[in-house]
Amino acid sequence: MKLIVANHKMNLTLPEVLDYKHKIESIDTSKVKLVICPSYPYLVGLDSNKYYLGSQNVGMLDSGALTGEISAKQLSFLHVSYVIVGHSERRTLLNENNNDIKQKIEQVLKSGMHTILCIGEDKDENEKGKTKRVLKNELSVLKDISPISLSKVIIAYEPIWSIGTGKLPSSDEIYDTIEYIKNLIYDEYDVDIKVLYGGSVSPDNIKELEKIKNIDGYLIGGASLNPKKLSDIISKVR
Ligand code: PGA
Repeated sequence: MKLIVANHKMNLTLPEVLDYKHKIESIDTSKVKLVICPSYPYLVGLDSNKYYLGSQNVGMLDSGALTGEISAKQLSFLHVSYVIVGHSERRTLLNENNNDIKQKIEQVLKSGMHTILCIGEDKDENEKGKTKRVLKNELSVLKDISPISLSKVIIAYEPIWSIGTGKLPSSDEIYDTIEYIKNLIYDEYDVDIKVLYGGSVSPDNIKELEKIKNIDGYLIGGASLNPKKLSDIISKVR
């Protein structure tokens, strides 16, 4: 079953998100595993038996003096099952580095939730043929995580230049990159890992994306904010 992750980012007000929940609950989600990642305050009260709840971020520490942060343990008490870590917006705009990301993954796994680790190259790196090197470096945060815990890690391959731009790599490029990620993790850790594709996924391109054999699901930003578009995408996922 494919994993469909809706990343709301910093969008929707309380009335809007409640309306969204109502609409999503009327969609047939039985053929996919749907994860909704609203803004932090809406995690309380947004759980549903129609989808899983996800968080867009998590704090690096167990507890204590870290103003404005939320711990993995706190999230786990809100019925959160999945936590996005290392989204490119956090890496680039908020200077998150591999060290921070590694700590966050450890916190999430310790609290029994799944981690969705985002990786991806920017435009310049892509054009200079550095994609694999970038991905390998971003995946190095998985070192020292036990194979059992690794089974709770999902990778989201999101080329930064594709996020919110309407531009996607070719199907062959996506296939090759996902294959590279899966093989690298299998060779280094002996684990079969699931890889999602993210970056401008929409009702218009989902049919094409669905032809790519090694995609295990999608991380969707913009289009996921619109219940109709999300429903369209879900209906086309096999
Ligand atoms: P997008 O965002 O679908 O709007 O491109 C994806 C993401 O940033 O996770």
